[in-house]
Amino acid sequence: MGFGGAQLIIGHRGAAGLAPENTLDGFRKAAALGVDAVELDVHRLEDALVVIHDDALDRTTSGRGPLKAYSLAAVRRLDAGGGQRVPLLEEVLAALPINVGVNIELKASGTAELAVPLAERELALGRDMLISSFDFDELGHAAALGSSALKIALLFGRWPRAGWQVARRLQAWSVNLSLETASERLIRQAGERGLKALVYTVNDRPTADRLMAWGATGVFTDFPDRLVQA
Ligand code: G3P
Ligand code: CA
Repeated sequence: MGFGGAQLIIGHRGAAGLAPENTLDGFRKAAALGVDAVELDVHRLEDALVVIHDDALDRTTSGRGPLKAYSLAAVRRLDAGGGQRVPLLEEVLAALPINVGVNIELKASGTAELAVPLAERELALGRDMLISSFDFDELGHAAALGSSALKIALLFGRWPRAGWQVARRLQAWSVNLSLETASERLIRQAGERGLKALVYTVNDRPTADRLMAWGATGVFTDFPDRLVQA
C-alpha cells in the first residue's frame, strides 16, 4: 500500500461518497475498504492544521461564514457531519494504519511549514506521504522544507503552458490531473518525463480502467467500494 503500487486507489477526502468528507469516519471507512492511500485538505488556523476543504464553513459543517472568522476552539465545536468534529491533521494520521499512504493537499498559504514536519514524522514511522497543491508557491515551500523521501505533486485543473517546467523545478513525483484534463497524451508525456500521473475524481470502474490503460498510476475516488479490487 502507500504510493508504491501501479494502480493506486486513493480515497478522496476520505471516502466522500460514503461518509462526510474529511472526517475521521470517512478516513477509517476508506482504510477499511482497502485503499492504498487517502487524500485530505488542510487549512491553517492558530498554528494548527484543520482538515477541511473549503475556506468557508457552510457546505460541510454546522458553522457559517469564513473559517478564518472562527477560533480553533469554536471550529472544533462544529458538526462536520454525523456529529463528528473537523479533525486536526494529527488526529487523522493517528487514526490511520501506518500502511495507508496520506496525500496532504495544501489549501492555503502558511500550511507547508506545519504540514512538512508532520509528514516527515510519519515518513520516519514508515508511512508513505505525498504533499500536493494548486498553489505552486506553497508547494515550493513544502518541497524546500521536506526531505527527498517526501513526495511532491502538482495539482492541475487545466494544463498550463509551463506545467512541465514547474514540475521539474519542484522535482515533483507526480502531476495530479482533473478528469477533464487527463488525456492519453498528457499522461504519456508525464511518463516520458519520469512523472506519475494521478487523476481526480474517478467514481466508476470503466473510467479508472481507461485511465490506467493510458498509463495513469492511480485515481482519487469518492467511492473506494466501487474501485478497490476484491
Ligand atoms: O487532490 C485531488 C483533488 O482533491 C483536488 O481537488 O478541489 O477536490 O480538493 P479538490
Ligand atoms: Ca483535495
